[in-house]
Amino acid sequence: MKIAIIGGGSLGLLFSYYLGIKNEVSIYTRTKEQAEQINKNGVHLIKGGIAQPPLKVSAAAIQEWQGKEEFTVVAVKQYQLPGLMDELKMNARNSILFLQNGYGHIKLLSEITAPDIYVGSVEHGAVRANEYTVQHNGIGVTRTAVYRGEAHLLRELPMNVPDDFPVHLESDYKEMLIKKLVVNAVINPLTAILKVRNGELIDNPFYFEIFKQLFEECALVLGLEHKEDYLQNLMTVCAKTANNHSSMYKDIENGRQTEIDAILGYLLELSISKNIKAPLIHNYYHCIKGKEQEREGA
Ligand code: PAF
Repeated sequence: MKIAIIGGGSLGLLFSYYLGIKNEVSIYTRTKEQAEQINKNGVHLIKGGIAQPPLKVSAAAIQEWQGKEEFTVVAVKQYQLPGLMDELKMNARNSILFLQNGYGHIKLLSEITAPDIYVGSVEHGAVRANEYTVQHNGIGVTRTAVYRGEAHLLRELPMNVPDDFPVHLESDYKEMLIKKLVVNAVINPLTAILKVRNGELIDNPFYFEIFKQLFEECALVLGLEHKEDYLQNLMTVCAKTANNHSSMYKDIENGRQTEIDAILGYLLELSISKNIKAPLIHNYYHCIKGKEQEREGA
């Protein structure tokens, strides 16, 4: 299958490598320099600390993407998606999969005319080491679901990826994305502000109090039915990733922009529109924005 990957961050490189093993992949990056580096070196993967053989994929700047591939994976951060909308509206004519965190991007998808639009939720731990190298530290799964159209390509995808990069098809895109949103809304800001690994949030009884209350607020704002299932999932992810630093922790530590707007920003807006008081969501949102501001001031 011919596949386009848009975005040269950790997920873009990770998907280029694994999808490139059995398919013809073209990666489209924000800068021409990165595309040149990938064309010269291939994509390199370091899996569990061990360098894998580099993989040749063709790379070009995003402006060159014309939507001709059968399948396009959009692997940019949610805050970068609005800047890509003109290209997506003009060129998306085949199946397209969006891998953004949060839920705020869903309202943008209705503006795209592609017949099959899919969304995904990635549970891998990956870090970009340089412009063409990605470290795959936590092996997880990619969950996918149909937002609009037919699931045919999502059904084919598991056959087109290696066994150690599983792709699951879920039936309800909202439930899938909201589950991940709840995980990110509780774990990411708390670990970034308290400066702890994920597991501390459930091991330290004092942090666990905040963890439970923040979860309760998210559940209330989202109007979750069966909230015990969401809490169970949150606790399981926290326990499974106990030794990890969350992506928001790392973004703050490294002075990078975080995904807070897509995560707590989305929930804060929702609480305001529903007239629900959400003091923890409000406060942690502003704590993280304050940390981002410190970086900008520096
Ligand atoms: O954003 C992250 O870091 C991850 O999604 C998760 C699951 C919170 C684990 O660290």
